Amino acid sequence: MVAFVRLLPEMSPATYRALTEVPGSGTAGPDTARIAVCAGCHGTDGRGRGQPDMPVLGGQSPAYLRAALQAYATGKRQSAVMANAAATLTPGEMTRLARHFAAMPGLGTTTASGSVNAARIVREGLPAKQLPACASCHAPGKPYPVLAGQSATYIAQRLRNWRGDETVVDARKSQATMPVIARRIPEDMIDPIAAYLAGK
Ligand code: HEC
Ligand code: HEC
Repeated sequence: MVAFVRLLPEMSPATYRALTEVPGSGTAGPDTARIAVCAGCHGTDGRGRGQPDMPVLGGQSPAYLRAALQAYATGKRQSAVMANAAATLTPGEMTRLARHFAAMPGLGTTTASGSVNAARIVREGLPAKQLPACASCHAPGKPYPVLAGQSATYIAQRLRNWRGDETVVDARKSQATMPVIARRIPEDMIDPIAAYLAGK
């Protein structure tokens, strides 16, 4: 530290930034150009720029965001815009960008509120339909994405995506956790649940 302070007067701005910046966290770090591209849609604060279908990234689990980037890059998760944005990221960039956006304030700060029936499904599920409580997985301290405070439009869109085409029989659809759960939610409860989780 002492050596660092002594060096300060003769240090160029670039050297100073290189020594003081946490990788990927600053505005002039190695990921600056990448972050600027992401911010074009997600905002510099990771909350989107007012588009209702944009997920909030701030406050999300960094491991989840990292996995999402990987899934977009490989096509396992489909989104034309994100496939494009993730295609050329290196593994290190994925990790740093995920941490960068996850570290921002955002999700988890809004308290769920709204429909009583939505609240019951989130907290208790619907045992008769073998629908588990959302909160049994989506809760603080668990390794699942944070839903509290997420955009309602985005939540509803993801759930409907997982349900897939209503004319195709369930046996022919994905048996992964969320697609199965999404199909068990009564259709008329999707929007109330999404609004409840968003806290709006
Ligand atoms: C052209 C607009 C656009 C750009 C640029 C963009 N994104 Fe996205 N991003 C989206 C949209 C739209 C979604 C939701 C896609 C979906 O439904 O899966 C999304 C989803 C995500 C998700 C998943 C969030 C979740 O909750 O599952 C992550 C992580 C993400 N973006 C990170 C990034 C990063 C990092 C960059 C920069 C390298 C970036 N995005 C650039 C529009 C964009
Ligand atoms: C058994 C655990 C489990 C339960 C119960 C569960 N989920 Fe999930 N959920 C997951 C996992 C795992 C993911 C991440 C999926 C992925 O990345 O493909 C996820 C992702 C999501 C996402 C996407 C988040 C994002 O940022 O894109 C939404 C929305 C969601 N779940 C809603 C719900 C709702 C609503 C319920 C209750 C009806 C529920 N989940 C119950 C495990 C669960």
